[in-house]
Amino acid sequence: MAEQQHGIESAAETIQRIFQGGGSPLGADIVDAASRYRRLQQSVFPKPQRTRCIAVANQKGGVGKTSTTVNVAAALSDHGAHVLVIDMDPQGNASTALGIMHSSGQPSVYDVLEGRLSIAEVMQPCPDFSSLQVVPASIDLSGAELEVADMPDRTFLLKRALDAHLADHDLDYVIIDCPPSLGLLVINAMCAVTEMLIPIQAEYYALEGLGQLINTIGLVQEHYNPALIVSTMLVTMFDRRTLLSREVFDEVKKHYPTIVLDTTIPRTVKISEAPSFNQTVIRYDAHGVGAISYGEAALEIAQRSPMVLDAIDKRKGER
Ligand SMILES: Nc1ncnc2c1ncn2[C@@H]1O[C@H](COP(=O)(O)OP(=O)(O)O)[C@@H](O)[C@H]1O
Ligand SMILES: [Mg+2]
Repeated sequence: MAEQQHGIESAAETIQRIFQGGGSPLGADIVDAASRYRRLQQSVFPKPQRTRCIAVANQKGGVGKTSTTVNVAAALSDHGAHVLVIDMDPQGNASTALGIMHSSGQPSVYDVLEGRLSIAEVMQPCPDFSSLQVVPASIDLSGAELEVADMPDRTFLLKRALDAHLADHDLDYVIIDCPPSLGLLVINAMCAVTEMLIPIQAEYYALEGLGQLINTIGLVQEHYNPALIVSTMLVTMFDRRTLLSREVFDEVKKHYPTIVLDTTIPRTVKISEAPSFNQTVIRYDAHGVGAISYGEAALEIAQRSPMVLDAIDKRKGER
């Protein structure tokens, strides 16, 4: 802004001037990213009519669950939403990426599940985003699955705590990062929310295991949580230079046309670097395609709120 006032062009304008019409694919990419970034900054993220509770799950490891949880949460928060992230993975990767301490023995989701502490007592503010709170997980959580296995209400431990929290905290989104399994921790997440977000890695075996996940969600709907829907699928680590990525996207879109976001997340090294600086890519590389793509995914998620909340109401009505 200040630059323009003095008649000096901005960095984006310089790039535009140098590369436009030059036929350089790199230049075109930079210009494209700059204009996508600007458009995103100017976009209004509509707030949902009521709290959307979303579990990010896929029993496969390394498909982008944690990256999606932290970066979507950060982007939503950056655009004004009040967001709570609950880390349900004993690895605590979401806690790390959001800059939250989570060593063994510290108050965490483990204490919440076992009823010792409330969510408000263990949550911590994310240093980079003022309206983002985090319930951290530590390695202690790895014992929880066995410890609660015989409890009669073992599938509703997280739901009980979250419902109590939402009764006196106004939130737009609760996003839960699940571990790579279909065990009791994931079932607790599925029972506590009304929406599933499934990240799908754009690779050869992408759809393998999806049937099993959908099956498990069906069982949870039938036995514990009739209001649960799969609201969102997001294709991650998309490489537009390969036909395979496109094929995976088309295949997922064919099977789940109303659920898959049009936004895909590209494979970019900045997304994988960010956690080692205890940051989301939204802060670590705000102008890069990783942050922009997660921002666009978050916008799409926000814009779909009325449709998603309607679908949940409809399911509740069918009970
Ligand atoms: N779009 C991406 N581009 C490059 N690396 C990614 C991307 N998404 C995730 N990664 C990296 O891949 C690995 C697995 O991602 P992660 O989000 O931790 O998956 P999950 O939680 O499903 O195990 C991590 O090292 C992460 O940094
Ligand atoms: Mg993870």
